[in-house]
Amino acid sequence: MTKIILFADTGIDDTIALTYALKNPEIDLIGVVSGYGNVDREKTFRNVEYLLELAGRTDIPVIAGATRPLSGEEPVFFPEVHGIEGLGPIDPPIPEERYANRTNFSKLFQLIKENRNEVIIVNVGRCTSLAIAHYLSPEVMEDVKATYVMGGAFLEPGNASEVAEANFFGDPIAADYVCQNLVNLTIVPLNVTKNAILTPGIVNLIDTRADSPLEKIIKPILDFYYEYYQQRDPSITGTPQHDLAALMAALDINGLYGYKKREVRVRHKGDIAYGESIADFRPESSNCFGPNCARIALEIDQDIFVSNVLEILTNNR
Ligand code: BDR
Ligand code: CA
Repeated sequence: MTKIILFADTGIDDTIALTYALKNPEIDLIGVVSGYGNVDREKTFRNVEYLLELAGRTDIPVIAGATRPLSGEEPVFFPEVHGIEGLGPIDPPIPEERYANRTNFSKLFQLIKENRNEVIIVNVGRCTSLAIAHYLSPEVMEDVKATYVMGGAFLEPGNASEVAEANFFGDPIAADYVCQNLVNLTIVPLNVTKNAILTPGIVNLIDTRADSPLEKIIKPILDFYYEYYQQRDPSITGTPQHDLAALMAALDINGLYGYKKREVRVRHKGDIAYGESIADFRPESSNCFGPNCARIALEIDQDIFVSNVLEILTNNR
């Protein structure tokens, strides 16, 4: 079993990744770090607690992550993509008594120390909480087996600006820190996640087999998400599952991705290229092997993606 700590800003596609993590028998989800991003930190935290309640997994600790980017600026949220509360049409109740159980970074460090060299971190939101964890305690973070980050767009249009992907755009200082300082790092950028598509037909199929409260929210939230993407680009055939794509990279599914290893920098000067992810893909460049060389997923096999998602999201676990 792969022990995973998910850093998320839940969020519709974060919800699908969380659901997949809970349903995949190969994954032992041992904690969730919940920070600002798609909506504010209070909402993402509440959303994770709500989803874990639906799944009957309130035993999984939820750790309070960052509330704003390292620049200190106010975060920008995306209600038009993820809904006012972050879960599309769903308005989750506030389970007040559970806030007393909110944990902090000491819990994160405890989980890593208790599972030395076994934990995989999958970061599917802004990089702020992950950068802070490493900045606070690099010696503990060295005991993490590997880190996977959904973020960036390499030589591709962005989704938050002309050149920047939303997670890196939301906190480019943190994203640059993570790319420069974390070892065993894999980046899963927009280049592949934009093609990790679930069509309405596949979503309907998942829905016909949904038999738990958590599985029953998949269709309503993805219908909401699809409507947003359709308005933006009527030619799109379904919804891109950015965060699930990053989580699946952590499972090393045979043939799912093709990678290149490069040093990655993220631009954080306040100009038009703010948040852009940069790596050297000139023809003469080759894979690098230094400690700050990240593996970047650049090719995806869409058939393998869809068949694996169907298998996991329609199982009866
Ligand atoms: C990423 O940004 C967030 O809005 C999504 O949840 C995903 O993590 C896609 O660019
Ligand atoms: Ca996310």
